[in-house]
Amino acid sequence: MPVATIVWEGGRPGHVRMIDQTLLPTQYVVLDVRTVEHMFDGIRRLAVRGAPAIGVAAGFGLLLGVQHLDERDPDDVLGRVRETAAYLAKARPTAVNLFWALERMLARATRDHAARRAIVDGLFEEARAIFDEDCAICRKIGEVGAALVRDGATLLTHCNAGGLATADFGTALAPIYAATAQGKRVAVFADETRPLLQGSRLTAWELMQSGIDVTLITDNMAARVMYEGKIDAVFVGADRIARNGDTANKIGTYGVAVLAREHGIPFYVCAPLSTFDEKIENGSQIPIEERDPEEVTHGLGRRTAPEGVKVYNPAFDVTPARLISGIVTEVGLIERPTRERVEAALRRGGRLP
Ligand code: MRU
Repeated sequence: MPVATIVWEGGRPGHVRMIDQTLLPTQYVVLDVRTVEHMFDGIRRLAVRGAPAIGVAAGFGLLLGVQHLDERDPDDVLGRVRETAAYLAKARPTAVNLFWALERMLARATRDHAARRAIVDGLFEEARAIFDEDCAICRKIGEVGAALVRDGATLLTHCNAGGLATADFGTALAPIYAATAQGKRVAVFADETRPLLQGSRLTAWELMQSGIDVTLITDNMAARVMYEGKIDAVFVGADRIARNGDTANKIGTYGVAVLAREHGIPFYVCAPLSTFDEKIENGSQIPIEERDPEEVTHGLGRRTAPEGVKVYNPAFDVTPARLISGIVTEVGLIERPTRERVEAALRRGGRLP
């Protein structure tokens, strides 16, 4: 595990310690997050980001909001849990892990309330379980994905789906860490990932911390390195996967998938089952976050566009399932995903009856 991205510190009461990812790679600052408002702000401004880490942050954030409540009025506690979950759900719209974690916490509170058990104690267990399970799932994704990585392979990744995006060592980067631990030689090309540069600021930083051979390219160089025959496979993460396998991930991922298809390069998505949204039939139904135009007009710390220019800044795009060679999950590889194959995996993982 290269970095402790987000952890719960102390018992009850306790607080969250998490890396402020907006400051990497030039400053390594760990935030002490003690209120739900502070956590909301951290998620919104991407201090903590990446779908699984956002899920963990949501569980811990809910705890921050309710851990001091007096349990003598269980109806009041349940009401406050619902309000706090509704508040956190507004932090960001695309990564479904946020809603998945909040629904899981709410379901636990509702069960404990009905059984007259202490609600906040149960929420502590649930948030801890979300964290622990994410660690175990990253390891499993690493194991399944490493089988797709041959000795001497060079892989391309987009955005950051590594340790900084999860409780453990990532999703898309997990097969790279696992294959390296198995003694395979693996090199990585990291797309810098405009506009917020998660690839250069986070992926390049984290891979270098782990001694992995990483080469940084700007997004518009991906076609060239593929054309030059430098890339054996693409590994990316996901923010939300529809029932038919269509996958939302960081803006630019769709373009990389199109390029990979053109060059006959396998394109793998790595994601836990918590990133699947079984309520959504296909990718057109995935809400896409639009962010502040300043992220585009002030890309490199100073104005890089004319004052008053119109800007469109979607933070994610959707890669159609037909461009995906496989989805690596904790219950195995979903090869050439289709609705039937996604549903079978969700059933294996207990997400569908
Ligand atoms: O806007 P971000 O940085 O939260 O976007 C993150 C991504 O798109 C990741 O690839 C995705 O969440 C998977 S993280 C394991």
